Amino acid sequence: MSLTSELNKVLGTKEIKRTNHLFPLKDSTFRNKDLIEGIKVILSKDVTMSKITKKFEKTFSKKMKIPYSLMVNSGSSANLLAFQCLINPYRKKRLKNGDEVLIPSICWSTSLWPIIQCGLKPVFVDVDKENFNISLKDLEKKITKKTKALMLIHVLGISTNMSKLLKIIKKNKIILVEDTCESIGAKYKKKSLGSFGDFSTFSFYFSHQISSVEGGMICCQNKEDENIIKSLRSHGWAKDLSNQKKIENKNKKINKNFLFYNSGFNLRPTDIQAAIGLSQFNSLESFIKVRSFNRNKIIKKLIQDKRWRKQVSFINNDSNTKPSWFGLTMLLNKKYKNLKDKIFNNLDKLGIENRPIISGNFLRQPAIKKYNLKQKSINFPNSNFVHDHGLFVGLKHKVLNDKDVLKFADIFFKAFTI
Ligand SMILES: Cc1ncc(COP(=O)(O)O)c(C=O)c1O
Repeated sequence: MSLTSELNKVLGTKEIKRTNHLFPLKDSTFRNKDLIEGIKVILSKDVTMSKITKKFEKTFSKKMKIPYSLMVNSGSSANLLAFQCLINPYRKKRLKNGDEVLIPSICWSTSLWPIIQCGLKPVFVDVDKENFNISLKDLEKKITKKTKALMLIHVLGISTNMSKLLKIIKKNKIILVEDTCESIGAKYKKKSLGSFGDFSTFSFYFSHQISSVEGGMICCQNKEDENIIKSLRSHGWAKDLSNQKKIENKNKKINKNFLFYNSGFNLRPTDIQAAIGLSQFNSLESFIKVRSFNRNKIIKKLIQDKRWRKQVSFINNDSNTKPSWFGLTMLLNKKYKNLKDKIFNNLDKLGIENRPIISGNFLRQPAIKKYNLKQKSINFPNSNFVHDHGLFVGLKHKVLNDKDVLKFADIFFKAFTI
């Protein structure tokens, strides 16, 4: 009997599936060995952020070749901390109110909001239709004297041409934050996405390539930033900072266990999450391989099928990018544009759960209206195209067999005919 069934029997619990889709967007990646690591921490009763979190952070830094990594409770928290660090008074070169931050208009909500929450001004940049990542042409057009940073999003497991991008930001002295929340494990010219920027962020949410249930990582390049982020992550405490002793010596009258050095949040993970996350991280490569295998198998099956009428196109990644596919991303053929809702609904009803590309053109979201941002969604033609034609479906982390793939193809083609 498997461990999960045995535990379920003893505890009277059962595995719950939140959806009945044959091909759901979220497919649990948890294996018994990941759960055992989490259970071990629970049984030790020493569950809050401690040694295992540190071990995960060290392993992460080593593997990704990024000097400093700090685990947090979500990818959104990691994004918040990157921008909070950039405006923090302890930072020698900090951003000021109203400084401009570039961000692609196909973005996630919590890639954007930290910029606004930190008093900075987001300036949206259109994307490329071919790969949904930031358009370097539009990026160059949007740079002004006030541009200080770029919030780059690596979309769904691939990236833009990083060599060209790095040249642009170097020339214009722009700080780079890489939101790698959807693209952990992907590489550009053999270098991990997330290792190029001044800061980078990762998410281990349940539906991502690897998971710690909820969780994330923020990475940076120097000790100064690491200290700021560490204190911000944990109430503004001076505890555990490399300059802790110096701070204590300057503040001898204050109890060193309750010495507050900075402003702060509580964005800490638990060691339970760290243990599960680390166990999953150690298998990242194999998860990537299986997702890629499944993606190729589905695409091959669809385009070789006699029912294939180029109903969709699949995105092309830059030849220098080694993807870590998040899902199977597609663009609906223009001729079906008016049937989009019906087709997407059919797919869903028949068993293929699907969703927009990130959140579509974010300038079309109602929240934008409340924040008086001056840019208009209409001026982002490629993002609108992706908004109107793009969708993605889940990629399972277990190898699909021929029968599964045939089932996928049958549902796919049926969705276009009813
Ligand atoms: C690009 C991007 N950034 C940030 C996040 C936020 O990550 P989390 O869900 O861990 O808060 C997501 C979520 O999926 C995302 O897609």
